[in-house]
Amino acid sequence: MLQLLRRPRRVRSNEALRQIVRENSIETRQLIYPMFVSEKVDRAEAISSMPGVYQYSVDELVENAKRVFDLGIPAILLFGIPHLKDELGSQAFDPNGIVQTAVRSLKHSVPDLLVITDVCLCEYTSHGHCGIVDKRKGRFEVLNDRSVEVLVQTAVSQAEAGADVVAPSDMMDGRIGAIRSGLDQAGFSDLPIMSYAAKFSSAFYGPFREAAENAPQFGDRQSYQMDPANANEALREVALDIEEGADLIIVKPGLPYLDILWRVKERFGLPTAVYNISGEYAMLKAAAANGWIEEKRAVLELIIGFRRAGADMVITYWAKDLASWLK
Ligand code: PBG
Ligand code: ZN
Repeated sequence: MLQLLRRPRRVRSNEALRQIVRENSIETRQLIYPMFVSEKVDRAEAISSMPGVYQYSVDELVENAKRVFDLGIPAILLFGIPHLKDELGSQAFDPNGIVQTAVRSLKHSVPDLLVITDVCLCEYTSHGHCGIVDKRKGRFEVLNDRSVEVLVQTAVSQAEAGADVVAPSDMMDGRIGAIRSGLDQAGFSDLPIMSYAAKFSSAFYGPFREAAENAPQFGDRQSYQMDPANANEALREVALDIEEGADLIIVKPGLPYLDILWRVKERFGLPTAVYNISGEYAMLKAAAANGWIEEKRAVLELIIGFRRAGADMVITYWAKDLASWLK
C-alpha cells in the first residue's frame, strides 16, 4: 500500500520523467493573435486598458504582422475601426473599407500569414450594436434578418479582399447558413467559417470596447449574446452553427467558461478555439504591473488550462509573448 502511495511522487521528482508524462502543451502553431487596424490613426495608438496592444494604421499593421509571423504565429484575427460610422454599418462591407484594404496589403506582404477577419457590425454602426437596429419610442430592437443580409455582404467583401477565414462574431440567428451560401454563390465555397458559436454576454469585454470603439450607445447585447448562466443553450447554439456550416468553433470568453469549452470539444470534436478576451488580459496585466502576480507563470498556467479543457487553438493578446517564451 505504501508503495502505491509513493507512485506519483516518484514520477514527479524526476525532471525527464515529468516531461515525458506531461499530458498537454502549448504550441506556438496553435496561437491566434488579435490585431486592430484603424482608419483614424497614422501611428500606433496604445490602448490604455490593454498594455502592449495597439490600434495600427495599415502600414504599421503589415509591419507588425510580419513580426508576428516571424515569431512562428500562424494566424491573426483582424478587427477594423472605420473613420465613419452610420446606422447601417456600411463601412463594414465597403470594398475599400479599412479591413478590406488591410487584408489586401497583408496578403501582398505576408502572404503565408493566415488572415481571419472578424465579421460584425458593432465597429461600424453609429449605435455600436452588432446588427441593424430599429429604434422607436425609446425602445430598440435588433432586426435579425436585415442584419444577416449585411453580415453576408461583409463576409463576401472580406473574402474578395483575400481573407483566408471569416469569423462571424455578431450572434444573429441563422447567420452561419446565410454566410455559407453567400460565400458559395460568390465562388468561395472553399473558404472556411470560424464561428463564434458560444458567445456570452460578458463584463470582461470592457477593454475591447476601447480597442475596437464598439461600445453600444444605448441598451446592451443581451438580446443576441448568451446568458452566462446557460450551458445547454450554448451546446444548442454550437449544434445549430455546425449544421449551418461552421468549420471551426470559438468559445468566448475563456476563463469563466472552461466547462463550455470542454463540453463543446467533447460533444462535437470540431477544431475548437477559445478566445482569451480583453478583460482576462487586462486584469492579469494590472495585477502583474502592481507586482501582485508573476505574469509569465500565470499566463502559461492560464493557457495550459485552456488546452487541458479542450482548446485546439487559443486566441490571445499574449500570443507574441508566448511565442518568445516558448522558443
Ligand atoms: C463583438 C465583439 C466582442 C469582442 C470581439 N468582438 C464583444 C463585444 O464587444 O460584445 C470581444 C473580444 C475581447 O474582449 O477581447 N462583435
Ligand atoms: Zn459585434
